[in-house]
Amino acid sequence: VSLARIPVLAETPYEVLVGELSQEVLATELGTMLSGALGYSATRVGLVYAKDPNLEHIVGRVRVALGSLGLITTELRVPAGEAGKDAAVAAACWEQLGKAGFTRSDALITVGGGATTDLGGFVAATWLRGIPVVHIPTTLLAMVDAAVGGKTGINTGSGKNLVGCFYEPSGVLCDLTALATLPQPEFVSGLAEVIKCGFIADPIILQLVEQSPTQELVAGSEVTRELVERSITVKASVVSADLKERGGIADHPGREALNYGHTLAHAIERVENYQVRHGEAVSIGCVFVAELSALVGNLNHETVSQHRAVLSKVGLPVSYQSQKFEPLAAAMRIDKKSRGDVLRFVVLKEVGHPVILSNPEPSFLRAAYAAIGGQT
Ligand SMILES: NC(=O)c1ccc[n+]([C@@H]2O[C@H](COP(=O)([O-])OP(=O)(O)OC[C@H]3O[C@@H](n4cnc5c(N)ncnc54)[C@H](O)[C@@H]3O)[C@@H](O)[C@H]2O)c1
Ligand SMILES: [Zn+2]
Repeated sequence: VSLARIPVLAETPYEVLVGELSQEVLATELGTMLSGALGYSATRVGLVYAKDPNLEHIVGRVRVALGSLGLITTELRVPAGEAGKDAAVAAACWEQLGKAGFTRSDALITVGGGATTDLGGFVAATWLRGIPVVHIPTTLLAMVDAAVGGKTGINTGSGKNLVGCFYEPSGVLCDLTALATLPQPEFVSGLAEVIKCGFIADPIILQLVEQSPTQELVAGSEVTRELVERSITVKASVVSADLKERGGIADHPGREALNYGHTLAHAIERVENYQVRHGEAVSIGCVFVAELSALVGNLNHETVSQHRAVLSKVGLPVSYQSQKFEPLAAAMRIDKKSRGDVLRFVVLKEVGHPVILSNPEPSFLRAAYAAIGGQT
């Protein structure tokens, strides 16, 4: 059985493991991560998991693993999805940890999608100012994105992810068998981040998507294993070079490169009241920003076409027929407020070479918007 170990060079380095984990390997690796984090064998863990019948299978496997390690488990069942990223849910977790007497020598394990790893990471970061956490992401998006890199957080009435902190896990276990129950649209949505990693850093990801028969671009295939490994490697290396999003080296945008396609994507999500999947919005956003990259003079047209070909091959949208330029522009301006006062895009010079574009001419934005099917 092949098990990839991808290092993240955080202040305290940790590993992301990827593979189809047997029950035995799951227990061994979980035990190693916990004792590595604590410096001795843990005795008690909190298991944060999403209340979702589809997750019972993997949660059950984690319970068995914890049992075989002789650990006492406190179960913290939280609402699945965004409903879990809520201050009241975090508070309920803190109450439970308090009642169970959790100390710094105890740890948390999260099992679920990105919403659950974000919430559980935040609870781990804040309980006693930080206890170790191991993430077991169960969606493609959580494996390649949310569980790696140490961003944690919850939502507030004013918006998504407004409260949170950087808090690196002690390890991440990506058990590819968990993806078997993931609905195909969720899987496809996760592929948008995979393809994004291809464009900003790893052209082999693009080749794999281009050359694989469509029926292999599903959970459980060999190509999916390689895509997950490669995407995590991209995220891990970008994050390792820029742990706290302070910027990159030379002209590399650092961690901000991961926002490729995301400036417009966030605006689409907002304008559509979060009724589009994140990956679908990112897919449209990537085509938009590829067009923008060509307009500002950097990117050749073949690479722009490659965006449409690769994204549409896996079933992601590549156009956005709407007359929403003004509300989208307004939403992008709101997004920029949270980062200072400059409207920033990650654009490509070529595949693997992202750079920052600040305050582009509005005419370029309109032209790129028209190129993805919008009417201005
Ligand atoms: N921290 C970061 O760096 C980072 C990065 C990207 C995204 N995120 C966050 O991640 C969240 C989105 O993550 P997501 O797309 O994983 O969504 P999610 O966590 O909301 O999960 C989506 C749904 O899928 C279910 N599910 C999870 N695993 C399953 C499986 N194996 N089989 C069947 N159903 C399963 C969940 O219970 C949930 O109902 C957002 O809150 C986003 O802000 C964080
Ligand atoms: Zn994203």
